[in-house]
Amino acid sequence: MKVFEKEKPDIVIHSAALSDVDRCEINPELAWKINVQGTRNIVKASKQYGSYLIYVSTDYVFSGEKGNYNENDETSPINKYGITKLAGESEVKAASDEWCIVRPSVIYGSTPAAGKTNFVLWVINKLKNKEQIRIITDQWISPTLNTNLAQMIIEIAEKRDTGIYHLAGATQLNRYQFALEISKIFQLDSNLIIPVTSKDMKWAAKRPGNTTLNVEKATKELKHKPMKIEDALKNLRQEVETSGKLKL
Ligand SMILES: NC(=O)c1ccc[n+]([C@@H]2O[C@H](COP(=O)([O-])OP(=O)(O)OC[C@H]3O[C@@H](n4cnc5c(N)ncnc54)[C@H](OP(=O)(O)O)[C@@H]3O)[C@@H](O)[C@H]2O)c1
Repeated sequence: MKVFEKEKPDIVIHSAALSDVDRCEINPELAWKINVQGTRNIVKASKQYGSYLIYVSTDYVFSGEKGNYNENDETSPINKYGITKLAGESEVKAASDEWCIVRPSVIYGSTPAAGKTNFVLWVINKLKNKEQIRIITDQWISPTLNTNLAQMIIEIAEKRDTGIYHLAGATQLNRYQFALEISKIFQLDSNLIIPVTSKDMKWAAKRPGNTTLNVEKATKELKHKPMKIEDALKNLRQEVETSGKLKL
């Protein structure tokens, strides 16, 4: 409330969350406090100050049984993270005057946020160090380059669009294929990538099988389009090379 009072924002982009899927499963009370009550607080403040609110949600609001989900498909999360993020969506829909919900999937970029790494940087580092990695073939996703996502969100904010948008990458693939693409673009040894299935993984939270997102709406309506995986990874490579953030 102090920040709202000081800034009186026209636009609020709410991306804060407890985004660690296993931590949400182990500590659902904390996940509820941050992802639902936290969102309720932001909604309340946005309403009080007449701010237009963009809520960053997730592909994990879906069960993962169907894939290629569009904005009107039924939501049915299978883990605590997805449940709390969907409840956050409900808070936004119920109480905001002017809102937009955007749903990305597996975000990656050159700079690890909040002290954690992301899948692409992790794969690059492991392959660079000549370590074998075991990657699952049975989780299908729409990986999203953070800078592409940011451009699309800013465009939506400028137009003050309302409703739901799937803002993800334009290529749907499984984690193993994603790792192969990364090795190709970053010219690393793909023989180090070993295909496994999720049965081999010990996770606290269940993962949905196929949460690929249909991005036709964003592709049709926005100037900044969801990027294909090859173009997005090439952009990332250029970014890390010019910034010197990652030595390849
Ligand atoms: N990463 C993905 O693959 C992915 C996919 C789909 C959707 N999303 C959604 O995209 C958004 C961003 O995800 P991300 O991966 O960038 O998350 P992240 O790296 O975990 O960052 C989350 C941010 O939320 C802040 N935060 C957490 N609890 C807070 C609290 N109680 N009060 C204030 N700030 C708090 C953190 O601040 P501190 O740095 O101070 O801890 C951090 O900056 C989230 O809403 C997530 O649900 C992420």
